[in-house]
Amino acid sequence: MNNQLELSFDDNETKIENNDEILVSAAKAMKILEISRHNFEKVIQEGLLSPVYDEKKKLYNVDDIKKFMKTDRYDELANGTVDPRNNLNDLTGKDWLPETKSFFYQKGLGANHPEAQIEKLHPAPYSFQDIGHLVNFFTKRGMMVLDPFGGVGSTAKACEINGRKCTSIELSPVWHELSIKRLEEEVGQGTSEKHNFINGDSCDELIKIPTESIDFVVTSPPYWGILNKQDQKVKKNRVANNLETKYSESEKDLGNVENYDQFIDILVNKIFLQCARTLKYGKYMAIVVSDFRDKSDYISFHSDLIHELNKAEIPEGGILKLQGTKILLQNHKSLLPYGYPFAYVENIHHQYVLILKKEKQGKK
Ligand SMILES: C[S@@+](CC[C@H](N)C(=O)[O-])C[C@H]1O[C@@H](n2cnc3c(N)ncnc32)[C@H](O)[C@@H]1O
Repeated sequence: MNNQLELSFDDNETKIENNDEILVSAAKAMKILEISRHNFEKVIQEGLLSPVYDEKKKLYNVDDIKKFMKTDRYDELANGTVDPRNNLNDLTGKDWLPETKSFFYQKGLGANHPEAQIEKLHPAPYSFQDIGHLVNFFTKRGMMVLDPFGGVGSTAKACEINGRKCTSIELSPVWHELSIKRLEEEVGQGTSEKHNFINGDSCDELIKIPTESIDFVVTSPPYWGILNKQDQKVKKNRVANNLETKYSESEKDLGNVENYDQFIDILVNKIFLQCARTLKYGKYMAIVVSDFRDKSDYISFHSDLIHELNKAEIPEGGILKLQGTKILLQNHKSLLPYGYPFAYVENIHHQYVLILKKEKQGKK
């Protein structure tokens, strides 16, 4: 609520000072209130603001507007309400709509931010702020979120900040320990205890999670062995800064599986379909992935995953159904002159968020 109204009248809107009263036009009143004409008409119909007549003009007293802005009804009209039928999240209609856009811009803290120092140690974290948007759209407060590739705990951090509970599974003890430390240092002492951090192989750990116990799965898997084949410049930069260039040396690390078909098979059958089993019906899974190059081949990883997952049968029942592919734009990344001046070699500066829903079989 804006209690410190600063009014400007340089836009030809009516301003009349009458016994120290400031009277404004309906258009200016709507601007001050930041509400639509439709809602402004409701305010008038409900008698919450009454016009003052100046000859034939209808004007509104700024003091009345300010008083009205302190009421719950104003809050409701300006910010909307949560529909009582909304079982999915705690968003009002106004907050819901922008989240359905098929793209968004990546938003991080920036490498030098004090709270980015743990995140920066990991070779491929995602932004907890971006994931916060997904968590807030696909769950209500207190609901259960699962990330089978926990890394340095970005999903857990997003959950803690937004009042959700996270189960985060990470193979490497290094990232596992850092994810706990990250919550303790960046969010607050004792906060890591509210979440379930598991250090292990998701292929073994997921089967221990009960069927239909999770409200939302959000994760970013290893992109096959792409870190091992990464651009030399990017790699050199990390090495120069004493930062890891791969997740681990473990053969259980999906980033170390040599054969692409075998990698997709494990990722789909042992990880994503197991995650889907743990999901409740009608709930969602969001997978953050990017396409990549392997030597001269362009690998459309996101479409390979869609091909395998859309309408795939889930162990113990149900299917996954694709609902959308949100594009996460990474417009801040530096352009590298890969093919110049001979060929088109793309600077891949976007990721996909594949959004799938668990449905009963046969539902059209
Ligand atoms: C793309 S990163 C995830 C980063 C995470 N979203 C974050 O923001 O920190 C993938 C992670 O999966 C982990 N990983 C690889 N194979 C795994 C497995 N079999 N089980 C559990 N985690 C695994 C890697 O160690 C790596 O930290």
